[in-house]
Amino acid sequence: MPDTIRSSSDDISFDDFDEINSPRPTATDFDAVVDRALSRRRFLGGGIAFGASAFVMGTTALTPARTSADASAAGSRLGFDAVAANGLDTITVPDGFSWHVVARWGDPMFPDAAAFDQASRGTGASQERAFGDNNDGMAMFAHQGRTILAVNNEYTNRAIIHGNRASLLPENADDVRKGKAAHGVSVVEVIERDGFWQIVQDSPFNRRITADTPMDITGPARGHDLLKTAAEPSGTRSLGTWNNCGNGRTPWGTYLACEENFNAYFSASDPTYTPSDALGRYGVGRKDWGYAWATADERFDLSKHPNEPNRAGYIVEIDPLDPTSVPKKRTALGRFKHENAEVVVAANGHVVVYLGDDERGEFLYRFVSDGKYALGADNRDLLENGRLYVARFTDDMRGEWVELTPAATGMATDAEIRIHTRQAASAVGATTMDRPEWVAAIPHRIEAYCCLTNNRNRGIKPNAGGDPTPVGGPNPRAANLYGQIVRWVPDDGDHAADHFDWDLFVTAGNPTVHDDAQAGSTNVTAENMFNSPDGLGFDSRGLMWIQTDGNYSDAGDFAGQGNNQMLVADPVSGEIRRFLVGPRQCEITGITFAPDRRTVFIGVQHPGEKGDSHFPDGGQSVPRSAVVAIRRDDGKPVG
Ligand code: FEO
Ligand code: CA
Ligand code: CA
Repeated sequence: MPDTIRSSSDDISFDDFDEINSPRPTATDFDAVVDRALSRRRFLGGGIAFGASAFVMGTTALTPARTSADASAAGSRLGFDAVAANGLDTITVPDGFSWHVVARWGDPMFPDAAAFDQASRGTGASQERAFGDNNDGMAMFAHQGRTILAVNNEYTNRAIIHGNRASLLPENADDVRKGKAAHGVSVVEVIERDGFWQIVQDSPFNRRITADTPMDITGPARGHDLLKTAAEPSGTRSLGTWNNCGNGRTPWGTYLACEENFNAYFSASDPTYTPSDALGRYGVGRKDWGYAWATADERFDLSKHPNEPNRAGYIVEIDPLDPTSVPKKRTALGRFKHENAEVVVAANGHVVVYLGDDERGEFLYRFVSDGKYALGADNRDLLENGRLYVARFTDDMRGEWVELTPAATGMATDAEIRIHTRQAASAVGATTMDRPEWVAAIPHRIEAYCCLTNNRNRGIKPNAGGDPTPVGGPNPRAANLYGQIVRWVPDDGDHAADHFDWDLFVTAGNPTVHDDAQAGSTNVTAENMFNSPDGLGFDSRGLMWIQTDGNYSDAGDFAGQGNNQMLVADPVSGEIRRFLVGPRQCEITGITFAPDRRTVFIGVQHPGEKGDSHFPDGGQSVPRSAVVAIRRDDGKPVG
């Protein structure tokens, strides 16, 4: 039986797991990097200044963050009363708003599906007909008067889904089947009845996509030798998708599921197996994260199928309106730990997709399609081919998209760049970032934002490829506890332009504990403070919804911040206000709006991941991730 990290895997993050299972290269010149960071801090007067006063802007029109006092003086656009931080095991929303659960892990999606069983927590067979676990990114599609919701099911908390086992881990083949079926994507029709959204169980659109669903591999890497396996020697097809984190949606009506910590599912039955450096860069190692998939499906046994991990880590394009369609892995958008995929159409018609690689010290990317989008045309394969770029930021508040070509990277082919994308980005000296999570582009303006969630290795350790992580640019704090949101304005009002201006919209912090850079930027106050921004989305008014996945201890550096939460921000004024507090030990992730804008749907992921929640059903019930609908009591639009 392949090894798994059996004890405490629910208590450590994917990044921590990777650093244990696939140790980082030793830094040789890192003392020099830290010295440089420290002297820069001294130069700035003992602490790094943030917010409007910190940045001397050039001639471009970035709007620096202003204080909340400034914002209220100018008249707030946010339109609700702030919610106080708390540690309750429920959802808290502002006065005048209400919430209800739309779909939970294990809810039946088909008329013949079994109800969720609290004792067994489901079987392989029941899970294949039920809503997946740990819902994350999602998007809503309106079609002929029906409303179809596509939702990522990122991963499972083994101690919860296998809580019926003494080991709190999968113990047999059916447990593994259940775990694989809890991953992937759930596509469900939903309907509003008497003010409550619910699943339409007999809808022809309902579909479960799991770790076993057949997929096509498309784009530059299709058929490459590194994608060939004994079971699938053409390298053009694969089975399944897993660890789908954030999402995207295209103007032509498809859904993008983004494969993030795909590495954590592989293990090796041969104790002498050593992964290649190329696999090590992605954290693929001898042990898995406790899923034990290799015990029941040898695809996940690295000793037998060393190329299988090369077939994961992509953006997967899904047609949510055709349950018979074959999802397409879009290798043109690169292979890394994809967070989300923010799609915009540039002025010249090329499709631009912004992409984050969420790991400490990894990179921010941009794809620009070869073809052009046109309303009513056949746009289905615009993500098949295009140019892939990585971001390089400089301290003068400028940035550049560096194209990843064979000439620039030293790699032989475009295919290799799409498979070993991290190595390609390292080769061109891309800026190592504080864990790029979601990117969101503001509507009606040419401007984009990315959550840099936190990075305790900033200025301390290199990334997995050995690239230094110096303090500076958009990553201005060593051992970054709280995270920040960077924004950029492309030159010439063109998302396809190769240069941009940037600033920080907010640096999160705790002004009740710190009075230095750890207090955060001027738009962070005792009333709205948070840590670890992650999910991000704009509403039709151009207001930004920020979701957190951070430290919920409510103590020490995080005292007063309570459970994970969702905030709304005005990008123009810089004002930020807390809209929602989630239940215990969850993160808030995923956001989409009903077609009439009267409901916002958000995701509550992994409530009780350490054993302290019974959300959403209370009592002694099993905690279950859920999609939650939030509406105004007066029925007016929420965004
Ligand atoms: Fe799945 Fe980067 O969060
Ligand atoms: Ca996330
Ligand atoms: Ca996160």
